[in-house]
Amino acid sequence: MKKRVAVLISGRGSNLKALFAASEASDVPYEISKVISNRPGADGIQWAASNGLNVETLDHKSFDSKADFETALNEELVAAKIDFVCLAGFMRLLSATFVRRWRGRILNIHPSLLPSFEGLDPQQKALDVGACISGCTVHFVSEKMDGGPIIAQVAVPVLPDDTEEVLSSRILKAEHLIYAKALSAVCSSHVSWSQGNKVDLSKDHSTELYGFLES
Ligand code: GRF
Repeated sequence: MKKRVAVLISGRGSNLKALFAASEASDVPYEISKVISNRPGADGIQWAASNGLNVETLDHKSFDSKADFETALNEELVAAKIDFVCLAGFMRLLSATFVRRWRGRILNIHPSLLPSFEGLDPQQKALDVGACISGCTVHFVSEKMDGGPIIAQVAVPVLPDDTEEVLSSRILKAEHLIYAKALSAVCSSHVSWSQGNKVDLSKDHSTELYGFLES
């Protein structure tokens, strides 16, 4: 049976689209069962609704506290019988309580090769230090922001004339390639997180989880 995945977004949702496109192949071990946005009117939620996905908006500003917001979020996920949660441009930091409850079942994608350039504006941070290589990372979400065990990484070059926009779009291409592969590996139990800050990885599948994308 396919694993039931919820994708949490706040904005344009290009990773959501890539995850959904990949899920349409018959041998992919997951389906997108729910899309949740914390921002009303996010482009990604409009796209998801018009493509027949089950969508929900939980505007964090309409809750009295972060705890109340996360209680509602958890209820949505449980009601939809979600197995795995993918953060895809979801701009809310989840509390330790929430993250512990979903340990090993929440993934995030970040546009840098972690642990370099954690936090906001990682593409600009790569340009600011003159990095020659950057990329993207899919990782399990832990209590430490951008600090959970790494599942997959794709590197891209940083070219001398790159602007933040150009580098971001090169990295985004890599994101769209790797997120679905990483999610599939987790959904098929080829990658899991049992202890420490490192994943357990079946060797047969490790080569699907890294790469270099030239352009
Ligand atoms: C991506 O660059 C992702 O890595 C970061 O936020 C951006 C979301 O883009 N966490 P999109 O909404 O998936 O297009």
